[in-house]
Amino acid sequence: MSTKNLNIVILAAGKGTRMQSLMPKVLHRLAGKTLLQHVIDKAKQLIPNKVVVVYGYGGDAVPKALTHETITWVEQKEQLGTGHAVLQAVPHLDDDGKTLILLGDVPLLDQKSCLALLDKTDTLGLLTVNKQNPTGYGRIVRDAQNQILAIVEHRDATKEQRDITEVNTGIIAVSNTQLKAWLSKLSNKNAQAEYYLTDIVAMAVNDGLNVAAEITDDESSVEGVNSKEDLAGLERVYQTRNASALMQAGATLADPLRIDVRGELTVGKDVEIDVGCVFEGFVSLGDQVKIGPYCVIKDASIGKGTHIAAFTHIDQAKVAADCKLGPYARLRPGAEIADAAHIGNFVEVKNSQVGVGSKVNHLSYVGDATIGKNVNVGAGTITCNYDGVNKYRTVIEDNVFIGSDTQLVAPVVIGEGATIAAGSTITKNAPAGQLTFCRAKDQKSIASWKRPVKK
Ligand code: UD1
Ligand code: CA
Repeated sequence: MSTKNLNIVILAAGKGTRMQSLMPKVLHRLAGKTLLQHVIDKAKQLIPNKVVVVYGYGGDAVPKALTHETITWVEQKEQLGTGHAVLQAVPHLDDDGKTLILLGDVPLLDQKSCLALLDKTDTLGLLTVNKQNPTGYGRIVRDAQNQILAIVEHRDATKEQRDITEVNTGIIAVSNTQLKAWLSKLSNKNAQAEYYLTDIVAMAVNDGLNVAAEITDDESSVEGVNSKEDLAGLERVYQTRNASALMQAGATLADPLRIDVRGELTVGKDVEIDVGCVFEGFVSLGDQVKIGPYCVIKDASIGKGTHIAAFTHIDQAKVAADCKLGPYARLRPGAEIADAAHIGNFVEVKNSQVGVGSKVNHLSYVGDATIGKNVNVGAGTITCNYDGVNKYRTVIEDNVFIGSDTQLVAPVVIGEGATIAAGSTITKNAPAGQLTFCRAKDQKSIASWKRPVKK
């Protein structure tokens, strides 16, 4: 691997007119991550000593969206062509070593082809691909000995040159000394009146140098996004490849075409995932986890043997082993569910711990609560955690039974083994081991009462 003294320049100044968008093209998302972030992440895997991103359209919207990155930002105020774009980066490049030029709108870039390209040359090398329909691309012109002579842009190409199917992917490796010399000689006398980076190929040939090519057969890895359709197409490629990787890791997918991972999903053995699930951020699923259809799970870890039924929504939560969740459960940030607990339908849990073996099975809100072991929370129980200004905690100790339709007005503690009668509004601590109830005293029946009739 020759990634020593490597600089990487990512071109990301273009508008992307065909996206029909108010946003710069490279900020559109694929698998939940901006196109540019994909390219930066791939670039960093090559261990360069510097990454320079050339931005332009949209002003500082692009650098602002990626402030977490330690990279060098260079503005190209006017988009005068790819050669002009690279020229803006030149002051930041090392005097020796190589530069790899990448495009900010080619998200599925393949690290292996980049390494192969870098290995092939110390002067100038092109990553090329054969396209059934090469329209619009720069054609690779070779001589009878198959040596590369030039790249001719589609609009400047002759009829014969347009028949060439080998095209420039835009990914180029070049020595820094030569790049600097060649760029200073670029002109814009061509069909688009642009400074073409690709003109450096003819300059190299003119200098008597050999231009190397690495030909990739993975078209998607060099495909640029120019339209929303392109974006959707590459999203599917990404998702299909990711689904294959999950199956290779031991997951059973009901349909590999109907799973979306927008982040990183790690799976144990014999994980089963039904159709229509979306995973975001970092999600880990332990061995034998089962996930029903149409669940959305974000930044969560799910322990071994836990079953999650349909339409469950989980965001920033930890679920331990052998739990049962859903259908229609909602875990919000800070929910921590211990082993063998059950969270049933239409139950919302936020910033709360639910202890081992405890059950909250129906229609409840558990917010800012600490629930111990083997607690049963009846249907329709609400922790009233908010007085309109401040939030307070509810503590429910081990082996408590909360009757249905109970309001627990926090701050409040329900002592170990206590039972709360159904329909109670609890505003004071309930002692351990006792039955506590607080509901309207009198149950009346009016024998003479008649239902109203329609007038
Ligand atoms: C370019 C190549 C072409 C290649 C094709 C692959 C040139 C002259 N042509 O053509 O050989 O087949 O890519 O997709 O290089 N950009 C800037 N500043 C500019 C112009 C472009 O940053 O002034 C960026 C764009 O944001 C984009 C990339 O460079 O990411 C390529 O630009 P684009 O206009 O798409 O080049 P093409 O004409 O498609
Ligand atoms: Ca393009």
